[in-house]
Amino acid sequence: MELRDMIYARRSVRKYLDQPLNEGELRELRYAFGRMKPLYPGIRVRWEILEKEQVRLFMPWKAPQLMAVYSEKKEGYLENVGFLFQQMDLYLQSIGLGSCWIGLGKPRYQNEEDGAEFVILLGFGKPQGTPLRIGSADFKRKTPAQIADRVDAALEPARVAPSSTNSQPWFFVHEEDAYHAYMVTDGLRKHTMIGAMNRIDMGIALAHMYVANEARFRFFYAEVPKKDGYQYIGSFTL
Ligand SMILES: Cc1cc2nc3c(=O)[nH]c(=O)nc-3n(C[C@H](O)[C@H](O)[C@H](O)COP(=O)(O)O)c2cc1C
Repeated sequence: MELRDMIYARRSVRKYLDQPLNEGELRELRYAFGRMKPLYPGIRVRWEILEKEQVRLFMPWKAPQLMAVYSEKKEGYLENVGFLFQQMDLYLQSIGLGSCWIGLGKPRYQNEEDGAEFVILLGFGKPQGTPLRIGSADFKRKTPAQIADRVDAALEPARVAPSSTNSQPWFFVHEEDAYHAYMVTDGLRKHTMIGAMNRIDMGIALAHMYVANEARFRFFYAEVPKKDGYQYIGSFTL
């Protein structure tokens, strides 16, 4: 399946066969990453594949292998990681694998010697059963009216995007042909780990908008009005 078809078919997979991918299969993943587009091309990102013994997770299940993502810490780096690795999530599921973002875990050994910071894990592997969804009705998400200043079918890819604890922190405001993307901030969250996760979530929703409109998606900063309880993340046209 094409990546854009996976937007309405993917789901977080938490049950895996105990069959790690072999070196040839892992090479395919590294190769596929070369086709993925960053939100901020100037931010250096690297990732490595870890076996489940090499991570500490604060949850009762484990994926057989995980991608540990590191990034240079520059403005927009969390959104950039979400944007890049959501394309990986869609790709993994498009080739019949399962995947799940994992905020509640970290590598036992974090290699930050080059100044890059560990950001997040993405677990993956051969799924137990067939996890795919059958369409947008199969998602537990906010309604179109809850995620934008007006109902807009073009925002459906962002609406069904995955997010940490399914928090769906995105809100979109229309202005002429542009969409301004805001993140819900309730004060408390801003400086905590949840705040960081929500920035990754914003990148994930933007990735869905990009994948659904690959040739037309343009991301940029605009002068936008301040909105109480929301933080401006960036704008795009389709
Ligand atoms: C940044 C991020 C972190 C996440 N961390 C975890 C996690 O630590 N454990 C877990 O079981 N699921 C985690 N999830 C998966 C979400 O719970 C899941 O995406 C959400 O409930 C929506 O379900 P879906 O992905 O099946 O559509 C995470 C998702 C995102 C986007």
